[in-house]
Amino acid sequence: MMTKFGSVFIQLASVDSTNNYAANLIQQGSCQDGSVIMADYQTMGKGQRGNSWQSVSAANLMFSIALRPKYQLEEQIRLSWYCAIIWQQCLFRFGIDAQIKWPNDLYVGERKIGGVLIEQQLKGATLDWSILGCGINVNEAPERMQATSIYQETGQRFKPLTVLTEYLELLNGQQNLLYGDFLKLKGLFEEGMGFRNQPLQFEKNDSQPFEGIILGVNDQGQLQMIVNGTLQSFANQEIRFLLPLT
Ligand code: BTN
Repeated sequence: MMTKFGSVFIQLASVDSTNNYAANLIQQGSCQDGSVIMADYQTMGKGQRGNSWQSVSAANLMFSIALRPKYQLEEQIRLSWYCAIIWQQCLFRFGIDAQIKWPNDLYVGERKIGGVLIEQQLKGATLDWSILGCGINVNEAPERMQATSIYQETGQRFKPLTVLTEYLELLNGQQNLLYGDFLKLKGLFEEGMGFRNQPLQFEKNDSQPFEGIILGVNDQGQLQMIVNGTLQSFANQEIRFLLPLT
């Protein structure tokens, strides 16, 4: 059984975080696979690495999808890859050539246009629910973060819901990619990854900056880089990109 993304659609004026709202629905046992929760405004929007996610009311797209994954916990990286590939396709429909910045940010050049926060819920050792939270800058880009928006890139304003509708259509249409050949999915993700094959600066936790060349990802989704002539893997949260603009 495939997930119907958008099977239930909840639109809120304001909420702490759409990811939290989805988690509560799951907890209450009243969540349907594929439910979408969208909000105009979040009072406590969450980003990756414990950061907050802020957005001007109704200007940008903020939503979460609660889904029951149909793969094992060991393959949980599938969703992260899939949602990023689909974002790239979706932004392309709006005339934007975005790159994926590992692990799953969307960038135009060196400016961030959107980000994804996936939270997993386990039942014992099995993956029970995934909450896919997305924030896309549609009409406003937070200036201090050197970000960009669909408006900034194209000069056109869109309703956040218009962007979401395109995204859901793409998500629904390509589930064979989400659940099919693992290596094909990985390959498509790597093709979509920006910042590859060039020396870049990184920072490992609090240590000194170092130079690395991104090659791709391994089967767990870790970043594979050449550092000092050797191939090394880095887990999410272990390193930070030191891009000139960020
Ligand atoms: C990041 O790039 O750090 C991830 C940002 C994810 C933000 C979205 S907005 C909708 C959903 N609800 C949240 O609290 N966070 C995600």
